[in-house]
Amino acid sequence: MRVAVVQTSSIFGEAKKNVDQALSLMETVAADLYVLPELFNTGYNFIDEKEVRSMAEPADSLTFRTMSEWTKKHSCYVVYGFAEQADRIYNSAALVGPEGIIGIYRKVHLFDRENLFFAPGNLGFPVFNLPIGKVGIMICFDWIYPESARSLALKGAQLIAHPANLVLPNCPYAIVTRCLENRLFTATADRVGEENRGGVNLKFIGTSEIVAPNGKILCRLGVQESTISVADVDLALADKKQINEYNHVLKGRRPDQYYL
Ligand code: ACM
Repeated sequence: MRVAVVQTSSIFGEAKKNVDQALSLMETVAADLYVLPELFNTGYNFIDEKEVRSMAEPADSLTFRTMSEWTKKHSCYVVYGFAEQADRIYNSAALVGPEGIIGIYRKVHLFDRENLFFAPGNLGFPVFNLPIGKVGIMICFDWIYPESARSLALKGAQLIAHPANLVLPNCPYAIVTRCLENRLFTATADRVGEENRGGVNLKFIGTSEIVAPNGKILCRLGVQESTISVADVDLALADKKQINEYNHVLKGRRPDQYYL
């Protein structure tokens, strides 16, 4: 199957323009699964909770309907990040396909000032069994907790769709280890550009990438341009967890020895 990472340069508060920008990139390349950045439609650098509240949307919003129509037309799936208005406001990602909304993930490990605006995710780490393969989701800073990718691997994910708004430089390198230690694919879709709001300036590092279970970087985008890249991936490779005759990355775990 073919997976695409869509690297946008969202403009804060310009949802329509941001959705249109993502769609125009997606129109240029055929794929089975498109991964878009975290909070791709709203932008990231909120000033306060009131502002997030005014821009958050329920899972079945206009963005969802637009993406859903698009997946119907192109027979594909899309994972995108958005501010979810539910019982509380979550930093979420939706998985949308021709059949409508397939699932939601709510970011478990909130980064920095996100802790002021969002409720921590409460849906665990879901894996969705799609006709194209088993797709799990985590969002941005979840990468720094190996437990995120490990939970998804233990639940059978072959590919992790990873919407991001990266500001630290480490993830593009560290995610390679997440792939190796779990023997799965990752597709990190980051954004580029800067948001200077309320005295806080954030610069996003781009460097979206698709990485294979053997740690090979299949594609890596630049630090400045809004663009898209694809990779053909054989997800069955992610089912091969055996490293050699004696070592299996998941079965070799020793949870009985992991204690404080
Ligand atoms: C991040 O989690 N957006 C850095």
